[in-house]
Amino acid sequence: MFNKKPAYRVAVVGATGAVGAEMIAVLEERKFPVETLLPLASARSAGETVVFQDQDITIEELTKDSFAGIDIALFSAGAEVSRKYAPIAAKAGAVVIDNSSAWRMDKEVPLVVPEVNPHDLEHHGNIIANPNCSTIQMVVALKPLHDRVRIKRIVVTTFQAVSGTGKEAMDELMDECRDLLSFRAAEPKVYPYQIAFNCLPHIDDFLPSGYTKEEMKMVNETRKIMGDASIQVTATTVRVPVYVGHSEAVNIETEQKLTANEARALLSTAPGVILYDDPEHKIYPMPLDVAGKDDVYVGRIREDESIPNGLNLWVVADNLRKGAATNAVQIAELLVR
Ligand code: A2P
Repeated sequence: MFNKKPAYRVAVVGATGAVGAEMIAVLEERKFPVETLLPLASARSAGETVVFQDQDITIEELTKDSFAGIDIALFSAGAEVSRKYAPIAAKAGAVVIDNSSAWRMDKEVPLVVPEVNPHDLEHHGNIIANPNCSTIQMVVALKPLHDRVRIKRIVVTTFQAVSGTGKEAMDELMDECRDLLSFRAAEPKVYPYQIAFNCLPHIDDFLPSGYTKEEMKMVNETRKIMGDASIQVTATTVRVPVYVGHSEAVNIETEQKLTANEARALLSTAPGVILYDDPEHKIYPMPLDVAGKDDVYVGRIREDESIPNGLNLWVVADNLRKGAATNAVQIAELLVR
Protein backbone atom coordinates (compact mmCIF):
# COMPACT_ATOMS: atom_id res chain seq x y z
CA MET A 1 0.00 0.00 0.00
CA PHE A 2 1.11 3.53 -0.63
CA ASN A 3 -0.37 6.59 1.08
CA LYS A 4 -1.21 9.23 -1.49
CA LYS A 5 -0.40 12.85 -0.64
CA PRO A 6 -0.24 16.17 -2.49
CA ALA A 7 3.58 16.06 -2.34
CA TYR A 8 6.25 13.63 -1.16
CA ARG A 9 9.49 13.62 0.76
CA VAL A 10 11.96 12.01 -1.63
CA ALA A 11 15.46 10.74 -0.83
CA VAL A 12 18.02 10.06 -3.58
CA VAL A 13 20.73 7.65 -2.43
CA GLY A 14 23.86 8.09 -4.55
CA ALA A 15 22.98 11.70 -5.34
CA THR A 16 26.50 12.52 -6.56
CA GLY A 17 26.66 9.60 -8.99
CA ALA A 18 25.99 9.55 -12.72
CA VAL A 19 22.51 8.05 -12.26
CA GLY A 20 21.70 9.86 -8.97
CA ALA A 21 22.34 13.25 -10.57
CA GLU A 22 20.08 12.28 -13.44
CA MET A 23 17.36 11.15 -11.00
CA ILE A 24 17.34 14.61 -9.42
CA ALA A 25 17.18 16.27 -12.86
CA VAL A 26 14.36 13.98 -14.02
CA LEU A 27 12.30 14.55 -10.83
CA GLU A 28 12.48 18.28 -11.52
CA GLU A 29 11.90 18.03 -15.27
CA ARG A 30 8.85 15.79 -14.97
CA LYS A 31 7.48 17.96 -12.15
CA PHE A 32 7.22 15.07 -9.74
CA PRO A 33 5.38 16.36 -6.63
CA VAL A 34 8.37 16.76 -4.30
CA GLU A 35 7.76 18.33 -0.90
CA THR A 36 11.40 17.95 0.17
CA LEU A 37 14.40 16.41 -1.53
CA LEU A 38 17.06 14.66 0.57
CA PRO A 39 20.27 13.94 -1.37
CA LEU A 40 22.30 11.17 0.26
CA ALA A 41 25.80 9.92 -0.56
CA SER A 42 28.89 8.68 1.26
CA ALA A 43 30.73 10.64 3.96
CA ARG A 44 33.10 11.79 1.17
CA SER A 45 30.37 14.00 -0.32
CA ALA A 46 28.50 15.09 2.82
CA GLY A 47 28.29 18.89 2.95
CA GLU A 48 28.49 19.34 -0.82
CA THR A 49 25.36 20.58 -2.55
CA VAL A 50 23.10 19.66 -5.43
CA VAL A 51 20.79 22.08 -7.24
CA PHE A 52 17.08 21.22 -7.25
CA GLN A 53 14.40 23.68 -8.38
CA ASP A 54 16.97 26.50 -8.29
CA GLN A 55 17.93 25.78 -4.69
CA ASP A 56 21.21 24.46 -3.31
CA ILE A 57 20.44 21.42 -1.19
CA THR A 58 23.09 19.99 1.11
CA ILE A 59 24.08 16.36 0.62
CA GLU A 60 23.93 14.26 3.79
CA GLU A 61 25.83 11.12 4.62
CA LEU A 62 23.75 7.96 4.24
CA THR A 63 23.15 6.35 7.65
CA LYS A 64 20.53 3.98 9.03
CA ASP A 65 18.66 7.01 10.40
CA SER A 66 18.43 8.77 7.03
CA PHE A 67 14.92 7.56 6.16
CA ALA A 68 12.74 8.86 9.01
CA GLY A 69 9.76 10.62 7.40
CA ILE A 70 10.82 9.75 3.83
CA ASP A 71 8.01 8.61 1.50
CA ILE A 72 10.03 7.51 -1.54
CA ALA A 73 13.73 6.60 -1.69
CA LEU A 74 15.41 6.30 -5.10
CA PHE A 75 18.59 4.23 -4.71
CA SER A 76 21.55 4.22 -7.08
CA ALA A 77 24.68 3.66 -5.03
CA GLY A 78 25.50 0.07 -5.99
CA ALA A 79 24.25 -3.33 -4.89
CA GLU A 80 26.13 -3.45 -1.61
CA VAL A 81 24.57 -0.19 -0.37
CA SER A 82 21.13 -1.36 -1.55
CA ARG A 83 21.40 -4.73 0.14
CA LYS A 84 22.20 -3.02 3.43
CA TYR A 85 20.04 0.10 3.35
CA ALA A 86 16.95 -0.74 1.23
CA PRO A 87 15.45 -2.94 3.99
CA ILE A 88 16.21 -0.20 6.55
CA ALA A 89 14.45 2.41 4.41
CA ALA A 90 11.53 0.06 3.71
CA LYS A 91 11.13 -0.66 7.43
CA ALA A 92 11.14 3.08 8.16
CA GLY A 93 8.11 3.37 5.85
CA ALA A 94 9.70 4.58 2.62
CA VAL A 95 9.00 2.89 -0.69
CA VAL A 96 12.40 2.09 -2.20
CA ILE A 97 12.89 2.15 -5.97
CA ASP A 98 16.25 0.47 -6.34
CA ASN A 99 18.42 0.81 -9.41
CA SER A 100 20.99 -1.80 -8.37
CA SER A 101 20.95 -5.52 -9.13
CA ALA A 102 20.55 -6.40 -5.43
CA TRP A 103 16.79 -7.15 -5.36
CA ARG A 104 15.82 -7.64 -8.98
CA MET A 105 15.41 -11.41 -8.96
CA ASP A 106 13.88 -11.58 -5.44
CA LYS A 107 10.44 -13.23 -5.79
CA GLU A 108 8.88 -10.71 -3.40
CA VAL A 109 10.23 -7.71 -5.29
CA PRO A 110 8.51 -6.44 -8.45
CA LEU A 111 10.84 -5.65 -11.35
CA VAL A 112 9.06 -3.00 -13.34
CA VAL A 113 9.19 -1.22 -16.68
CA PRO A 114 6.08 1.00 -16.76
CA GLU A 115 5.39 0.42 -20.47
CA VAL A 116 5.61 -3.37 -20.03
CA ASN A 117 4.42 -4.62 -16.62
CA PRO A 118 2.88 -1.77 -14.58
CA HIS A 119 0.45 -4.30 -13.02
CA ASP A 120 3.37 -5.89 -11.12
CA LEU A 121 3.42 -2.78 -8.90
CA GLU A 122 0.17 -3.87 -7.26
CA HIS A 123 1.98 -6.02 -4.71
CA HIS A 124 5.21 -4.98 -3.07
CA GLY A 125 6.82 -4.94 0.35
CA ASN A 126 8.19 -1.39 0.02
CA ILE A 127 11.04 -2.43 -2.29
CA ILE A 128 10.64 -2.16 -6.06
CA ALA A 129 13.50 -2.95 -8.43
CA ASN A 130 14.47 -0.94 -11.49
CA PRO A 131 15.80 -3.35 -14.14
CA ASN A 132 19.21 -3.40 -15.77
CA CYS A 133 19.64 -0.59 -18.32
CA SER A 134 20.14 -2.87 -21.32
CA THR A 135 17.14 -4.97 -20.39
CA ILE A 136 14.81 -1.97 -20.00
CA GLN A 137 15.36 -0.61 -23.50
CA MET A 138 15.11 -4.06 -25.07
CA VAL A 139 11.80 -5.01 -23.42
CA VAL A 140 10.20 -1.62 -24.20
CA ALA A 141 10.94 -2.28 -27.88
CA LEU A 142 9.99 -5.97 -27.85
CA LYS A 143 6.80 -6.03 -25.75
CA PRO A 144 4.49 -4.78 -28.53
CA LEU A 145 5.92 -7.42 -30.88
CA HIS A 146 5.66 -10.16 -28.25
CA ASP A 147 2.00 -9.28 -27.61
CA ARG A 148 1.26 -9.70 -31.33
CA VAL A 149 3.30 -12.73 -32.45
CA ARG A 150 4.94 -14.18 -29.29
CA ILE A 151 8.72 -14.06 -29.20
CA LYS A 152 10.27 -17.51 -28.80
CA ARG A 153 13.95 -16.53 -28.81
CA ILE A 154 16.06 -13.38 -28.51
CA VAL A 155 19.72 -13.08 -29.55
CA VAL A 156 21.13 -9.73 -28.44
CA THR A 157 24.51 -8.03 -28.64
CA THR A 158 24.93 -4.77 -26.73
CA PHE A 159 27.21 -1.78 -27.25
CA GLN A 160 27.17 -0.15 -23.82
CA ALA A 161 28.32 3.33 -22.83
CA VAL A 162 30.84 3.93 -20.05
CA SER A 163 28.36 6.02 -18.02
CA GLY A 164 26.72 2.69 -17.15
CA THR A 165 29.77 1.97 -15.03
CA GLY A 166 29.58 5.34 -13.26
CA LYS A 167 31.23 8.71 -13.15
CA GLU A 168 34.77 7.37 -12.59
CA ALA A 169 34.53 5.39 -15.81
CA MET A 170 33.41 8.51 -17.70
CA ASP A 171 36.48 10.31 -16.36
CA GLU A 172 38.65 7.35 -17.35
CA LEU A 173 37.52 7.49 -20.99
CA MET A 174 38.21 11.24 -21.08
CA ASP A 175 41.64 10.85 -19.43
CA GLU A 176 42.66 8.01 -21.74
CA CYS A 177 41.66 9.96 -24.86
CA ARG A 178 43.63 12.95 -23.64
CA ASP A 179 46.69 10.83 -22.78
CA LEU A 180 46.68 8.83 -25.99
CA LEU A 181 46.26 11.88 -28.20
CA SER A 182 49.21 13.43 -26.33
CA PHE A 183 51.33 10.32 -27.07
CA ARG A 184 51.19 9.14 -23.44
CA ALA A 185 50.16 5.63 -22.42
CA ALA A 186 46.61 5.06 -21.17
CA GLU A 187 46.36 4.05 -17.52
CA PRO A 188 43.21 1.98 -17.00
CA LYS A 189 41.93 1.83 -13.42
CA VAL A 190 38.20 1.23 -13.60
CA TYR A 191 38.33 -1.18 -16.57
CA PRO A 192 40.79 -4.06 -16.94
CA TYR A 193 41.99 -2.66 -20.29
CA GLN A 194 42.08 0.63 -22.14
CA ILE A 195 38.52 1.60 -23.15
CA ALA A 196 39.45 4.54 -25.40
CA PHE A 197 39.49 3.44 -29.09
CA ASN A 198 38.66 -0.09 -27.94
CA CYS A 199 35.76 -2.50 -27.17
CA LEU A 200 35.67 -4.75 -24.09
CA PRO A 201 33.50 -7.89 -24.37
CA HIS A 202 33.30 -7.95 -20.60
CA ILE A 203 30.64 -6.22 -18.44
CA ASP A 204 30.36 -7.21 -14.77
CA ASP A 205 31.97 -10.43 -13.50
CA PHE A 206 32.44 -13.66 -15.42
CA LEU A 207 30.47 -16.71 -14.26
CA PRO A 208 31.71 -20.34 -14.45
CA SER A 209 29.55 -20.78 -17.59
CA GLY A 210 31.68 -18.20 -19.43
CA TYR A 211 28.83 -15.68 -19.58
CA THR A 212 29.06 -12.43 -17.62
CA LYS A 213 26.61 -11.40 -14.91
CA GLU A 214 25.44 -8.57 -17.21
CA GLU A 215 24.57 -11.11 -19.90
CA MET A 216 22.61 -13.24 -17.45
CA LYS A 217 20.77 -10.16 -16.14
CA MET A 218 19.41 -9.71 -19.67
CA VAL A 219 18.30 -13.36 -19.78
CA ASN A 220 16.65 -13.53 -16.36
CA GLU A 221 15.24 -10.02 -16.08
CA THR A 222 13.65 -10.18 -19.55
CA ARG A 223 11.70 -13.29 -18.54
CA LYS A 224 10.60 -11.78 -15.22
CA ILE A 225 9.47 -8.44 -16.72
CA MET A 226 7.70 -10.01 -19.70
CA GLY A 227 6.10 -12.55 -17.35
CA ASP A 228 7.09 -15.39 -19.68
CA ALA A 229 9.68 -17.87 -18.42
CA SER A 230 9.68 -19.70 -21.74
CA ILE A 231 11.36 -16.93 -23.78
CA GLN A 232 14.85 -18.07 -24.73
CA VAL A 233 17.41 -15.28 -24.46
CA THR A 234 21.12 -15.25 -25.20
CA ALA A 235 23.28 -12.15 -24.86
CA THR A 236 26.77 -10.81 -25.54
CA THR A 237 27.40 -7.53 -23.72
CA VAL A 238 30.18 -5.21 -24.86
CA ARG A 239 31.53 -1.96 -23.39
CA VAL A 240 32.30 0.64 -26.05
CA PRO A 241 33.96 4.07 -25.86
CA VAL A 242 30.68 6.02 -25.87
CA TYR A 243 29.76 8.35 -22.99
CA VAL A 244 25.99 8.03 -22.92
CA GLY A 245 23.59 5.76 -24.81
CA HIS A 246 23.46 1.99 -25.06
CA SER A 247 22.90 0.41 -28.48
CA GLU A 248 21.70 -3.12 -29.12
CA ALA A 249 21.56 -5.40 -32.13
CA VAL A 250 18.51 -7.56 -31.40
CA ASN A 251 17.46 -10.65 -33.34
CA ILE A 252 14.12 -12.26 -32.51
CA GLU A 253 12.41 -15.45 -33.60
CA THR A 254 8.64 -15.33 -33.29
CA GLU A 255 5.87 -17.91 -33.24
CA GLN A 256 3.93 -16.26 -36.09
CA LYS A 257 5.29 -14.29 -39.02
CA LEU A 258 5.64 -10.52 -38.58
CA THR A 259 6.85 -8.53 -41.56
CA ALA A 260 9.24 -5.61 -41.12
CA ASN A 261 6.43 -3.25 -42.15
CA GLU A 262 4.04 -4.77 -39.61
CA ALA A 263 6.72 -4.39 -36.92
CA ARG A 264 7.21 -0.74 -37.94
CA ALA A 265 3.47 -0.13 -37.71
CA LEU A 266 3.30 -1.66 -34.23
CA LEU A 267 6.33 0.25 -32.96
CA SER A 268 5.18 3.56 -34.44
CA THR A 269 2.40 3.72 -31.85
CA ALA A 270 4.07 1.79 -28.99
CA PRO A 271 4.38 3.62 -25.65
CA GLY A 272 7.88 4.89 -24.96
CA VAL A 273 9.15 3.98 -28.43
CA ILE A 274 10.25 6.29 -31.24
CA LEU A 275 10.44 4.56 -34.60
CA TYR A 276 13.48 6.02 -36.35
CA ASP A 277 13.84 3.84 -39.38
CA ASP A 278 14.41 5.26 -42.84
CA PRO A 279 17.72 3.90 -44.13
CA GLU A 280 17.26 5.49 -47.54
CA HIS A 281 17.59 8.87 -45.86
CA LYS A 282 20.27 7.63 -43.42
CA ILE A 283 17.76 7.68 -40.57
CA TYR A 284 18.69 5.24 -37.80
CA PRO A 285 19.22 5.77 -34.06
CA MET A 286 22.67 6.58 -32.69
CA PRO A 287 23.76 7.20 -29.09
CA LEU A 288 24.89 10.77 -29.85
CA ASP A 289 21.35 11.69 -30.92
CA VAL A 290 19.52 9.72 -28.26
CA ALA A 291 21.53 10.95 -25.23
CA GLY A 292 19.32 13.19 -23.11
CA LYS A 293 16.08 11.65 -24.44
CA ASP A 294 13.61 9.58 -22.44
CA ASP A 295 12.32 7.28 -25.19
CA VAL A 296 13.67 4.10 -26.73
CA TYR A 297 14.63 4.55 -30.38
CA VAL A 298 14.26 1.68 -32.85
CA GLY A 299 15.57 1.44 -36.40
CA ARG A 300 17.17 -0.90 -38.95
CA ILE A 301 14.15 -3.22 -38.81
CA ARG A 302 14.70 -6.11 -41.21
CA GLU A 303 13.24 -9.56 -41.72
CA ASP A 304 15.77 -12.25 -40.82
CA GLU A 305 16.03 -14.16 -44.07
CA SER A 306 17.75 -17.13 -42.44
CA ILE A 307 14.59 -18.33 -40.61
CA PRO A 308 10.85 -18.28 -41.43
CA ASN A 309 9.76 -15.95 -38.59
CA GLY A 310 12.57 -13.64 -37.57
CA LEU A 311 13.39 -9.96 -37.31
CA ASN A 312 16.50 -7.86 -36.73
CA LEU A 313 16.26 -4.51 -34.90
CA TRP A 314 18.67 -1.82 -33.71
CA VAL A 315 17.59 -0.37 -30.35
CA VAL A 316 19.18 2.70 -28.73
CA ALA A 317 18.33 4.53 -25.49
CA ASP A 318 19.94 6.85 -22.96
CA ASN A 319 21.16 4.40 -20.31
CA LEU A 320 21.16 7.04 -17.56
CA ARG A 321 17.60 8.12 -18.43
CA LYS A 322 15.24 5.37 -19.67
CA GLY A 323 17.83 2.80 -18.61
CA ALA A 324 17.87 4.13 -15.03
CA ALA A 325 16.61 7.52 -13.76
CA THR A 326 13.57 8.04 -16.00
CA ASN A 327 12.35 4.49 -15.49
CA ALA A 328 12.70 4.90 -11.69
CA VAL A 329 10.81 8.21 -11.69
CA GLN A 330 8.12 6.71 -13.97
CA ILE A 331 7.67 3.94 -11.37
CA ALA A 332 7.30 6.62 -8.67
CA GLU A 333 4.71 8.39 -10.88
CA LEU A 334 2.69 5.17 -11.15
CA LEU A 335 2.81 4.74 -7.37
CA VAL A 336 1.46 8.22 -6.63
CA ARG A 337 -1.08 8.28 -9.48
P1 A2P B 1 30.12 9.43 -3.26
O1 A2P B 1 30.17 10.38 -4.42
O2 A2P B 1 30.02 10.14 -1.95
O3 A2P B 1 31.14 8.35 -3.31
P2 A2P B 1 28.62 6.25 -9.61
O4 A2P B 1 27.83 5.00 -9.87
O5 A2P B 1 28.40 7.29 -10.64
O6 A2P B 1 30.08 5.97 -9.38
O7 A2P B 1 28.06 6.85 -8.23
C1 A2P B 1 27.93 6.10 -7.06
C2 A2P B 1 27.11 6.86 -6.05
O8 A2P B 1 26.96 6.04 -4.89
C3 A2P B 1 27.78 8.13 -5.58
O9 A2P B 1 26.78 9.09 -5.30
C4 A2P B 1 28.46 7.68 -4.31
O10 A2P B 1 28.68 8.71 -3.37
C5 A2P B 1 27.42 6.73 -3.77
N1 A2P B 1 27.99 5.80 -2.80
C6 A2P B 1 29.00 4.91 -2.98
N2 A2P B 1 29.25 4.22 -1.85
C7 A2P B 1 28.41 4.70 -0.91
C8 A2P B 1 28.17 4.43 0.47
N3 A2P B 1 28.85 3.49 1.12
N4 A2P B 1 27.21 5.14 1.11
C9 A2P B 1 26.50 6.08 0.45
N5 A2P B 1 26.66 6.39 -0.84
C10 A2P B 1 27.61 5.72 -1.53
